[in-house]
Amino acid sequence: MKNIVVLVSGGGTNLQALIDAQSRGEIKNGKITCVVSSNPNAYALTRAESNNIHTEVIRRRDYDSFGDYDNALTQLLLGQKADLVVLAGFMTILGSTVIKAFENRIINIHPSLIPSFCGEGFYGLHVHEQALAKGVKVTGATAHFVNEICDGGPIIIQRAVEVQNRDTPEILQKRVMEQAEWKILPKAVSLFCEDKIIVKDNKTEILE
Ligand code: GAR
Repeated sequence: MKNIVVLVSGGGTNLQALIDAQSRGEIKNGKITCVVSSNPNAYALTRAESNNIHTEVIRRRDYDSFGDYDNALTQLLLGQKADLVVLAGFMTILGSTVIKAFENRIINIHPSLIPSFCGEGFYGLHVHEQALAKGVKVTGATAHFVNEICDGGPIIIQRAVEVQNRDTPEILQKRVMEQAEWKILPKAVSLFCEDKIIVKDNKTEILE
């Protein structure tokens, strides 16, 4: 059984999707053992506590340098014996120490079809604002491994979602979450825990 540590910063609906999938027995060979928040007031922490999941808070601002923060997060994750780290709306950039320590063992959920609308500055609602500003007819979500390039790691699963007339960023965000993020993130996590993801040349092959 692999230990899954989920990193959050906000509302935690993706964390909830993981918890619900776990309750339905859909996370095969994995268990959420800890939720780490960058924000002590994140509602995601309440979701974890209601489900008796251990929580930790680590704030960038409590460390003098980015390097100190990077080391502290790495030690926290090693101390929690994480086999898999999941970024579920985690809004703090990861440093090279943690990325190296967990190479191809950090999964992020991003609310667009990478390589569209991704990279620095593309997070949360901004992604959907940009998609609507461009006038794309299809958007979606991507579950991918994290490497040192922002949103540039190997893609695990993508799902497309239609943009509709009169969508606002908020309406589109909700549709992308419901139809894509909350489905593909638990699936990607389960595939990882079942050792069904092979990474080669910055791409993945899924063994089904
Ligand atoms: C989600 O839409 C997630 O894809 C996005 O933040 C939201 C968090 O919501 N992540 C990013 O934009 C990362 N670049 P949640 O806290 O309800 O899961």
